[in-house]
Amino acid sequence: MPKPKNSKKIIKKVKKIIKKSEKKQIAVRSKKTKSTKVIKTRSNNPRKTRIRIARKKPEVVDIVKAGSSPKLLRGMKDILPEDQIIRDYLTKKLIKLSRAYGFQEIVTPILEERALFEKSTGMATDIVEKQMYQFTDRSGKKVVLRPEFTPSIARAYIEHGMFNLTQPVKFFYHGPVFRYERPQAGRYRQFHQFGLEVLGSESALIDAEIILFSQTFFQDLGLQVSIQINSLGCLNCRTTYREELTKYLRFQSKSLCPDCQKRLNKNPLRVLDCKVPQCREITRQAPQLINFLCPDCKKHFTRVLESLDEANVVYSLNPYLVRGLDYYTRTVFELWPISSEEKEKENSNSGQTALGGGGRYDTLLESLSGRETPATGLSYGIERIINEMKIQKVRIPRSQTPQVFFAQVGETSARQALRIFNDLQGQGIKVVENFAKTSLKAQMKIADEIGVKLTLILGQQETKDKTIIIRDMKTGNQEKIDIGKLVKELKKRLK
Ligand code: HAM
Repeated sequence: MPKPKNSKKIIKKVKKIIKKSEKKQIAVRSKKTKSTKVIKTRSNNPRKTRIRIARKKPEVVDIVKAGSSPKLLRGMKDILPEDQIIRDYLTKKLIKLSRAYGFQEIVTPILEERALFEKSTGMATDIVEKQMYQFTDRSGKKVVLRPEFTPSIARAYIEHGMFNLTQPVKFFYHGPVFRYERPQAGRYRQFHQFGLEVLGSESALIDAEIILFSQTFFQDLGLQVSIQINSLGCLNCRTTYREELTKYLRFQSKSLCPDCQKRLNKNPLRVLDCKVPQCREITRQAPQLINFLCPDCKKHFTRVLESLDEANVVYSLNPYLVRGLDYYTRTVFELWPISSEEKEKENSNSGQTALGGGGRYDTLLESLSGRETPATGLSYGIERIINEMKIQKVRIPRSQTPQVFFAQVGETSARQALRIFNDLQGQGIKVVENFAKTSLKAQMKIADEIGVKLTLILGQQETKDKTIIIRDMKTGNQEKIDIGKLVKELKKRLK
């Protein structure tokens, strides 16, 4: 299109207006924030030029220049179709297995009262101390985006009087959770968990059951994992142990990392799973909790291990496994990818890779309701499982991807193609198309990329004589068949 004669003038005028409106914006902000400083960050890319107003301390207000597009928040992740197919596959598989083990689905809100996590996850945990997305709602209530599911399930159990049901009550759940962590590989600020909780039983067999569930699930998926297991004992045995551990660590406190020096006073057990090499060297000589278990806890843990042996579950005893949440009692466990176990043996930093974890929490419900209710559970991190599937080159079965591609050539065939395509969908055949393309070559290329088993070709001639070509993508063999026999033929070939 020819440019209008006065286009330069118009552009100049528009630029002037934008500049003026920006100045106005700054002026408004400056009025609101006392002693502010205007910082202009220039970049070669004009879209990235930003004007920032630094408040006194520590807040910085960003005014993104008009024209720059909003970006994905740090630590968040878009789930693109190729990952969504895997997520969907995993969720369906987990739901099927959960139902087979007698679990029922429960759905709780994403938004919960802040106090719920303070009372259960624990005030001294990283999650409650620094990772919750929290705000005050319009009624003035302090609320958070759930950083985990377990307290919500416990709350629902109490609020709906589920202690009146036949015990134990077995739930499975899945959905997004939020933690304001420092993002890195496999660590996001919004991620998805799938979990199981069994409320109302203290049986060691239930602990063994959910660990066996994990072995079955990962084996069936084809992912190699190592099951790490430990017992944290009850509050009584932990008190004695805590004293001994603190005594030991105080001697070495100067060599501990700054974080562990703080942990030493607040939660010395957390020092045990610090990944900093100098702390590891110290904790490897520390007294072990397992030697401090009271007779009841020892008996419980022995029963868990015996049941696992009986069920042929392969596990590693890990005396340093303490988990990062306050509510655990007795059995705790984590699922590590095999590669991470190797790194662990080499004493390197592999902390962020657990694919799942859980354990018994016999006192959590009491701390919320005053009523004793032993419970146990686990959660898996879906994103981490998908990442590990990619590392270990685990593919999902072919039936999850489309098996047939529908190609059409010519205008009359295109019209018929839509109807035939719809009929095939109705018959449950996983068929895809790209009707926007008209050349056969382009359509065959797409079929190849998707990796379908068969391609259907409907040309002018086939439309006329009511036939269709079936091409076997592996052998390249083509066969023309009567359109009326298509569904039957496809079902036979895709069996
Ligand atoms: P958790 O160990 O905090 O336990 O989280 C369970 C799993 O969620 C982890 O093993 C990991 O796979 C995944 N995960 C945790 N944080 C992140 C993150 N920032 N990014 C990606 N994935 C992450 C719990 O949440 C307990 N509620 C488990 C439980 C259930 N215990 C008893 N019942």
